[in-house]
Amino acid sequence: MKISRIFTAKDNVIDLINEDYNILPVLSRFSIPLGFGNKTIEDVCNNAGININVFLLVINYILSGNLDKSDLRHISATDLVDFLHNSHDYFLLYKFPHIRQNLLNALDDSYSDVNPMITRFFDEYVSQAHEHFEYEERVVFPYIRNLSTGEKSNYSIEEFKKHHDELGEKLSDLKNVILRYYTTSMPNKMYDVLVDLFNCELDIKSHTIIEDELLTPMVADMECKKGTAK
Ligand SMILES: [Fe+2]
Ligand SMILES: [Fe+2]
Repeated sequence: MKISRIFTAKDNVIDLINEDYNILPVLSRFSIPLGFGNKTIEDVCNNAGININVFLLVINYILSGNLDKSDLRHISATDLVDFLHNSHDYFLLYKFPHIRQNLLNALDDSYSDVNPMITRFFDEYVSQAHEHFEYEERVVFPYIRNLSTGEKSNYSIEEFKKHHDELGEKLSDLKNVILRYYTTSMPNKMYDVLVDLFNCELDIKSHTIIEDELLTPMVADMECKKGTAK
């Protein structure tokens, strides 16, 4: 189990980052600007218009791997949906294109036989992720927003649970091909790409955990309270 202190509104943002720099992509997914000075988490969230309870729940959960169920009372499922929607935009509009560009720059002309397979694996991964996010944006998130305003629907969060596949098989294929067969004599750029790929995999995993472990039980609870559970 990971050991981490629990962060509160009054803690310094720089301390949070120094605790575990893997939190940086999460700050990025919240669209938090840099230039932290001595600002606290509360200052930064207020300035950026971020729901502080969602922020604390997400970062403490990612840092510690533990969830204090009592924290869920302070946030709504729609707040979490807003964060997850921003995360989808972050991956599709920023992270994936950024990695793709680095990958293209790292390809060695003398491997023209393997190079197309490498870009194909990456593109297939992105298109899988696109499809996965699209289902959530088109079906799941609107359902949750409507449920919160009392609208009836034939859908239920149980269906989402059944649909919610792991994302990442193609990414593993890509990492394997590079690690096992890409014997370039100038590997520095490709090492950077590998770090990007491993980080991206971790980010996607934490995104999925938030959907499975936080969002889904919250919505199931809403369904029970509103008497719409199936
Ligand atoms: Fe998602
Ligand atoms: Fe998902």
